[in-house]
Amino acid sequence: MNVSNSLAGWRARRPAFDGRSIGFVPTMGALHRGHSSLVERCRIENEIVAVSIFVNPSQFNDANDLARYPRTLDQDLELLESLGADEVIIPSVPEVYPNGYRFRVEPPPSDLVLEGAHRPGFLQGVMTVVLKLLNLVQADRAYFGEKDYQQLKVITDMTQDFFLTTEIIPCPTVREESGLAMSSRNMLLSPEARCNASRFFRILSAAANRAEARAALEAHGFIVEYVEERWGRRLAAVHLEGVRLIDNVPIPK
Ligand code: PAF
Repeated sequence: MNVSNSLAGWRARRPAFDGRSIGFVPTMGALHRGHSSLVERCRIENEIVAVSIFVNPSQFNDANDLARYPRTLDQDLELLESLGADEVIIPSVPEVYPNGYRFRVEPPPSDLVLEGAHRPGFLQGVMTVVLKLLNLVQADRAYFGEKDYQQLKVITDMTQDFFLTTEIIPCPTVREESGLAMSSRNMLLSPEARCNASRFFRILSAAANRAEARAALEAHGFIVEYVEERWGRRLAAVHLEGVRLIDNVPIPK
């Protein structure tokens, strides 16, 4: 496995892969089994597996959230090696944003709901960095999890509207045995809160409607940001011990 600690390093390596299929998994590190499943699928479907680790400041609207985002580089590299990744790209902030946050991809008004409404600048930051990364990696396929459902949707729409040639591959949410969706933020929860957090998925899946889901979540100590139904899914964001969790399930019949 080769690790490029600079974009210049990655750019120098990229021509060697011409003619071979490249799969790309963009990440912010703090890797868990959800990421492993993306890398595993990428490994099966491509000759070269490239993974980026970049904690993207432009998608954080809260400096504290950025500061406490978990960083576990040594374990991440070990995991990626064991999964058979070929290339790991770890660019710096000034390399990705050489002119600061100058040009930005703006989400359409129809996406200023859910994450777009509750985390101002988040979708813009995600779309901008993903456009940059897709252009840098020039992959055939890029893999994203369905847990970040709206993120997946705007990225898919953006690649189509900008005629990008990388195919976006949606991958199912990976859950702990308790049902809790895998997330880098889970490691910020105390053991008790982690246990309680498993109710999040169960309540979303079982409630008759979104009002009932909200009431049940609040009764179990979650601070609810939203529970919405769109795109055939029930989507929610909650806080537990100050940690923000999101999840989504098909709208129960
Ligand atoms: O889902 C994530 O980890 C990030 O939002 C992404 C897609 C890597 C962009 O920074």
